[in-house]
Amino acid sequence: MLSLKADLLRGCWYIAAPSSAVKRGTSAARTMLGEPVLVVRGEDGKVFALRDVCAHRGIPLRYGAVEGDSVRCCYHGWRFGPDGGCVEIPSLREGQKLDLAKIRCGAFPCEERYGLIWVYFAAKGEEPSEGPMPDTAFLPDIADDRPPAALISQEFDCSVDHAAFGLMDPTHAAYVHTSWWFKRGATKLRPKEKSFEPSDYGWRMVRHKLPPQNLVYKLLGKDVSTEISYRLPGYRIEHIKGDRHTVVGLTAMTPITDEKTEVYQIFYATMGWVKPLGPLVRHFMNVFLGQDRRVVVQQREGLVNASRLMLINDADTQARWWARIKSEWQEAETEERAFANPLKPQTLRWRS
Ligand code: FES
Ligand SMILES: [Fe+2]
Repeated sequence: MLSLKADLLRGCWYIAAPSSAVKRGTSAARTMLGEPVLVVRGEDGKVFALRDVCAHRGIPLRYGAVEGDSVRCCYHGWRFGPDGGCVEIPSLREGQKLDLAKIRCGAFPCEERYGLIWVYFAAKGEEPSEGPMPDTAFLPDIADDRPPAALISQEFDCSVDHAAFGLMDPTHAAYVHTSWWFKRGATKLRPKEKSFEPSDYGWRMVRHKLPPQNLVYKLLGKDVSTEISYRLPGYRIEHIKGDRHTVVGLTAMTPITDEKTEVYQIFYATMGWVKPLGPLVRHFMNVFLGQDRRVVVQQREGLVNASRLMLINDADTQARWWARIKSEWQEAETEERAFANPLKPQTLRWRS
C-alpha cells in the first residue's frame, strides 16, 4: 500500500474531463488507468469514449477527425461509431464482403453529469449497470446538469494511494498549506476531535456546525454546517449547507497510470453570483493544490529509498481506512460478492 505504485480499482466511474474541455465535433485524448481513452463529443452534442487505437493498423484515433457521431481514422479513413464498432471502410469495393460489425476499436461506457465527463472501467467485461458502483450521482443537492462554479486539475507525479493519503491527511495543513494570505507557518496547533462513521463506499466526518463568525460561511445563511465524505475509487466530497445556500466541493482522483494521478478540484454553488469570482477562486485553488503536489513530488524522491513507512494513530487513521476499504473492494471483486463496508463509527483525536 505504501509503495510507489498503486493497485487500480475497476468496476468504477472516473472523471475523464470537464464537459467544457470537449466541444461539439472534437475529441480529447486521455490516459486513464494506463489505457488510451479518446473522449469524443459528436456533432449532435452527445459524448462517448473509444479505446484510442484504430482496429486496422493501430494508429491512435485522436489523429483522426470527428464526423457526425463517429471518428474517422487519419490513416485509411475507417470510421468508428459511439459503441466502438466500425461503420465504414472506404477502400472496400462492391462484392468485397467484410462484416463491419465484427471490427471494433473498443468503447467505454461514458456519461455526462455535473459538467463532467465520466468513463467507466469495467471489471471482467461487465456492463456498468451490472457493476458494483453503477452510479455517478453522488453529489448532494447538486442537479445533474449544474456546471461547476470553479474547476481546476493538476497532474500529480504519484500513485493514487499517496494522492489519497494527502487528501485525507488532517495534520499536514499547518506545514504544507502556508502562505501570507492563509496561515503563516506552523505556529499554534490546536487539539481536534471529530466523529466519523461509515458511508457509501467509504466514510464521512459526521456533519457539524461551522463557526458563524466566518465571512464565507455567512454568505450561505444561518446554521451553516459541513459534512465531509470520502469514497472509492477516490472522491472527497465536502457538503457545506446553510439555510439559504449550499456549496459542494469535490476533489476527485483519476489514475493516469499506477504511479501518476490526475487530481481535480471542483466547486459547485447554488448561488449564481460566484461565477465572476471564478478567476480569483481558481488562482487560490491552484496555489493550494500546487502545495499538495509539491510535497508528493518531494516525497517521491525519498520513497525510492524508503524501506519502511509509518501510519500513526489517530492522525493517519483515515489513511488506514482507505487501505482497508480498498482491499475489501478488491476481495469482493475476486470473490464475486457485494462490497461490505468494514468500517465502524469512531472518534479521532489529533492536533492540527
Ligand atoms: S490504421 Fe486506421 S484506418 Fe488504417
Ligand atoms: Fe493538502
